[in-house]
Formats: sequence, structure tokens, C-alpha cells
Amino acid sequence: MANYKRTLITSALPYANGPVHIGHLAGVYVPADIYARYLRMKGEEVAYIGGSDEHGVPITLKAKNEGVTPQDIVDKYHGIIKDAFSRFGISFDVYSRTSSKTHHETASEFFKKLHADGKFIEKTSEQYFDEEANQWLADRYITGICPKCNNEKAYGDQCEGCGSSLNATDLINPKSVLSGNVPIMKETKHWYLPLDQYEPWLKEWILEGHKEWKSNVYGQCKSWIDGGLHPRAVTRDLDWGVPVPVDGGEGKVLYVWFDAPIGYISATKEMTPDWEKWWKDEDTRMLHFIGKDNIVFHCIIFPAMLKAEGSYNLPENVPANEFLNLEGDKISTSRNWAVWLHEYLDEFPGKEDVLKYVLTANAPETKDNDFTWKDFQARNNNELVAVFGNFVNRALVLTQKYYGGKVPATGELLDIDKETLAQITSLKANIEKSLDTFRFREALKTTMDMARLGNKYLADMEPWKVIKTDEERVKTIMNTCLQITANLTIVFAPFLPFTCDKLRGFLNMEKLDWSELGCTDLLVEGHQTNKPELLFEKIDDKTIEAHVNKLLETKKTNEMAEAVAAPIKENCTFDDFQKMDIRVGTIIEAKKVAKTKKLLKLLVDTGIDQRTVVSGIAEFYKPEDIIGQQVSVLVNLLPRTLKGIESQGMILMAEDADGTLKFVAPVNEVKNGSEIR
Ligand code: 2FM
Ligand code: ZN
Repeated sequence: MANYKRTLITSALPYANGPVHIGHLAGVYVPADIYARYLRMKGEEVAYIGGSDEHGVPITLKAKNEGVTPQDIVDKYHGIIKDAFSRFGISFDVYSRTSSKTHHETASEFFKKLHADGKFIEKTSEQYFDEEANQWLADRYITGICPKCNNEKAYGDQCEGCGSSLNATDLINPKSVLSGNVPIMKETKHWYLPLDQYEPWLKEWILEGHKEWKSNVYGQCKSWIDGGLHPRAVTRDLDWGVPVPVDGGEGKVLYVWFDAPIGYISATKEMTPDWEKWWKDEDTRMLHFIGKDNIVFHCIIFPAMLKAEGSYNLPENVPANEFLNLEGDKISTSRNWAVWLHEYLDEFPGKEDVLKYVLTANAPETKDNDFTWKDFQARNNNELVAVFGNFVNRALVLTQKYYGGKVPATGELLDIDKETLAQITSLKANIEKSLDTFRFREALKTTMDMARLGNKYLADMEPWKVIKTDEERVKTIMNTCLQITANLTIVFAPFLPFTCDKLRGFLNMEKLDWSELGCTDLLVEGHQTNKPELLFEKIDDKTIEAHVNKLLETKKTNEMAEAVAAPIKENCTFDDFQKMDIRVGTIIEAKKVAKTKKLLKLLVDTGIDQRTVVSGIAEFYKPEDIIGQQVSVLVNLLPRTLKGIESQGMILMAEDADGTLKFVAPVNEVKNGSEIR
């Protein structure tokens, strides 16, 4: 679509059941924001739409667990999310929410139109129902034994033990989360969007018509379409959501994935009464920024809904990203494995742009990527501080020193000056090419090259040496450096908006448009610049270590929580137990067994004799610390030879969740040889 008049940018509506983390930012909000800012700087008409997705089963479950209402949950997280986005400088033109009146009306009307036009099919199916709670059970409301791994706490849609996705009917011994009872199967009616009917059209529209979409997006669409599309239920038996507005819909709501994308329309309505031009005018192009788990909804289901409705535009492109991992592990809200935006903003005040920079430089555009605190530090220190910050600081400080902050007049330009300035124009062309095709990390890399160009020019020209012999030449050099700096305030602005505001403050200049990028007379002779401060500061090892340690703590907590006690063994008889002769003894000698990591050779006074026992406890106890320790010893175990030493018995140990071994001993000292029974 070469000749569009305006662009509607949407970014996935985050679920309001948790705060936003760096994965959301890198995948969706940072690239969408860069793009919106870039278009605005080009003078284009743009609307950047955001909002919270406030429906769905997980929100109702969270509310139930916390003993509050779903509205309480979404009010809390909508507030946290909206505030964090605003502090972070995500430049939404509107940030709405799907529990709003406008949204309920809009989604309801949309459904009614499709219903009236006969676009749905109605089907009854059997679903689980909790008779005691008198409630239908969404998949997440049913737990049972996983048929694949025997995990006893698998959910109706997924087993977190083995990661399999399940149907509620697959579970062995299903139980309702609400009452703990066995649910019954009952017939229920729902409305379905017959996606199969849209298959030929989707093939044409995407597979033929949008070959330019990113390969990860196109590939996923192709595999969905090739796999065959089926009718999808667009309603649910639930009491939280947009009520189904037609006869027979009592007690049912629209499926969250039916109402959420309509949230983009509702938000636009809240932004302007003239909302229709953003959705129905053929000169408007619509772009959806999303993460890869949302591709099918934005490329297949929502377009089919829009097509069925008939009066709306379809997306022009869906530049979806892959996932960002954190220190090698999948980001997870429930496992608290994330860097939360609101916490980052509190912990790194004034460093919003550092995070934007790192997330863009390492964006998961074509494959999953990893965020590490070390990389965060390195990019800050070696790129932002050492290249961009260093260049502009030297340019501004020298201008203060030599000219009291006034821009000097340029003399005759030498080839090196001309070539350097000309490179700004060619870099600009490359940056535009990258931005226009949603390759933000490439665009940022080239943008950084412009700062690198300035840094190198200044280092090569060495004005601090030339000043001793040729003052006129230094004026030209410094003028060139200042023109480059002024250009940097433009080119970095979509990526690092706070930094560019600050830099313009140092330069004492107004915000410029993208069209002025490449001009070499942005600052006139005699223009007074201000005393600069540092644009970026180094992040030290201690700060990074603290963040890495915080994650290690989280990991430990998770491991402890997840370590389930070993299952109880098969029953034994009292006689079986009686066969074991367990006594209290005292360790009287202890030595490491050579060439092993785990074994200690112990001499134990059992009250009857002194005997050698080899025990695998060297990782947990030092020999010198356990002399005199009372222990429990199985004294009638058949002797075994370990590393050439005959072990006559076994020391009983308690094993902690993380595998740590501890002695089992009487609480108060008893005589050696006392029986344990
Ligand atoms: O995956 C998610 O987080 C969804 N809440 C995204 C919804 S996008 C849109 F359709 F609203
Ligand atoms: Zn399982």
C-alpha cells in the first residue's frame, strides 16, 4: 500500500492480570512506539492505540484466589500497566480498557451485526458443569491427573508438569476447582465463526496477497491455513466479559479473543468522534504490533471477523516478534521470572532510554533472544556511554572551552569534512529502509553508526592538538561536530526520546522533523549552546550483580516450591520394618575418601562395636566438624565395599528439597546402641 494517507498502529492489549515485563516491551510496545514516533516526525497522520485486555478466565481465577472481584483485579493492574507505560514514554494516543462502557457497547454491536447477518453457526456440545457451584467450568476450572505424566494437578487446558496441552476431557479423575466435586457433562449452546468458510479467501488475501509479511508471520499463517480451518466458538459459559447480546445468550459472554481485538476499535472511538476514518477509509493503513503467540488471532481470526462484518479495513501488515527470554529461561509471570517495567523504572530512574536501547538492539525480531543483565550493562557502557555519550559530551565541552558555548563559523570544508557530512545522508537512507520494513534493530545499529561516525571524526581530527597551530581549522571541525550532534537529536528521537530531549536542551534547540535529518546547517554561527551534563552514565558491576542475585533468589524460591515430596512407597508390614536394626551411634573418626567428591570414611561407635561406615555426605559436612556427632545407623545392612573400603552399615540422612543431606539424630543425647523403632 504505497499511497496511504494515515496509519493506525495497534499494539496487543496486555492482560490486566499482571504487570508488564521486558518481554512485552521488546516484542510489542517498544517497536510500535519507535514506528509511531518515526511516522509522526515525518509529519504523517498517526494514531497509536493501546489498552488493557480485561476479560478472560485467568482474571476470574486470580480474583477467586485472592477473594476479590475480577473488576478489582483489572482495576489494579490496568492502573499499574498504564502508569508504567506512561513513565516509560510509550507514546499512545489513547490507552483504554476492555471493561469500559464504550467497549462493551462496541463489542456487543459487532456481535449483533454478525448474528443478524447470519455469519455465525450455532452448535451444542457437552461441557463440564459443577452442580454444587451451579457453574460451567472453563478448562482452567478443572484439575485432574495428567494422562501423559500422572501429574495430579494438571489443568483442563494444560499440564504444567510435562507441558502438554490437554482437553478437559483428557484428564483422569477431573475435579472442579470451585467445589472439589466431580463435574458432570452437560449440553450447552454456543455461537461459532465458521473459519472454514473463510479459507479460500484467507489463502488469497495472505498467501498470495501478503508475501511481504515477515517470514515468521507468513509461515505461521501458512501452516494454520494448510492445516485446515475449523469453526471457532466465539462465546463462553462465564459470567465475566461482554454478555452475549442475543436470545439464548443469558449467562454467556463473548470469548475474550472475540472481544479483545474489537478493543482497538473501542479505543479509537474514545480517542476521537471521527474514529471511522481510522477504520473504514481505504486510505488508512492498519498495522498490528504483536508477539508470536497472537499471530493466529490477528492474521486469521480477527480479519475473518472484520471481513464478515464487511465495513472495516483489514490489517496491511502484522510485524509480529518472537519471544524474549530472561537469562536463558522463558519469561513467566506465575514464576516471577521477569524484569517488571514498573520495578525497573523505580530501580533505574532516568534510564528509560537505556532499557529501550537494549531491548531494541537485542529485539527478538526473527528468532527468540535472551536478555541478560551483563549484556544490558555492556550495551550501556560500551555503546551508549562510550560512543554516543562520549562524542556529544566532547563536542559540547570543547565548544564551551573554546567558544564559550557559541557555535563557531565554519571555514572552508576539507574532503574529510565533506565526506563525513555526506555519510549522514547515506546512513539516513539506510535507516529509513530498515524502519520502513520493521527491522528496528538494524535501524538502531545504523543510527548508532551515525554517532560512531562523529566519534571517529572527532578522534581523527584531534582539535585539542590542532588548536595550538590552526584556530580557524578548529572552528570548522567543531562546527562539523555540532552539526552531527544536532542530527543525532533527530535520528535517535524515535528510539531514545528522553535522551534526545535532554540533548536538545544542551544544544538549546527546538525539536526538528525527520526531513531535516542530513542537513548540515542545523545550528547557525553564534548560536549559544548550554553547559552539558553527561548524557549517559556507566552502570557498575555491583548494580548488575544485585539484579543477577535477585533472579538467582527467585530461581531458588521456585525450585523449592516446585520440589514435590517423593511419592509414598508401597505399604510394608510391621515385620518388614522390624527386620531393620537401627541404632544410635557416635562418629568418632572421619576422613575424606581419596579421589571421590562425595564419600567420607567414618568410624562409628554403635554402643556394641566400633565399625567403619562409608557415607556419601562429603558435600555437606567437613570431616573435622562431625566428630562427636550422634547419628542413626542401620547396623544390620549387608556389608558393601565402596572404593575398596568395606562399609558396615548405613548412616540415615534426611534429604532436603534441593538435595541437601542432614543427619537424623535424637533431639537429646542418648546412649550409643539405643534402638530406633
Ligand atoms: O496475549 C495477550 O496478552 C492478549 N491479551 C493480547 C490481546 S491483543 C488484542 F487482540 F487485544
Ligand atoms: Zn503432564
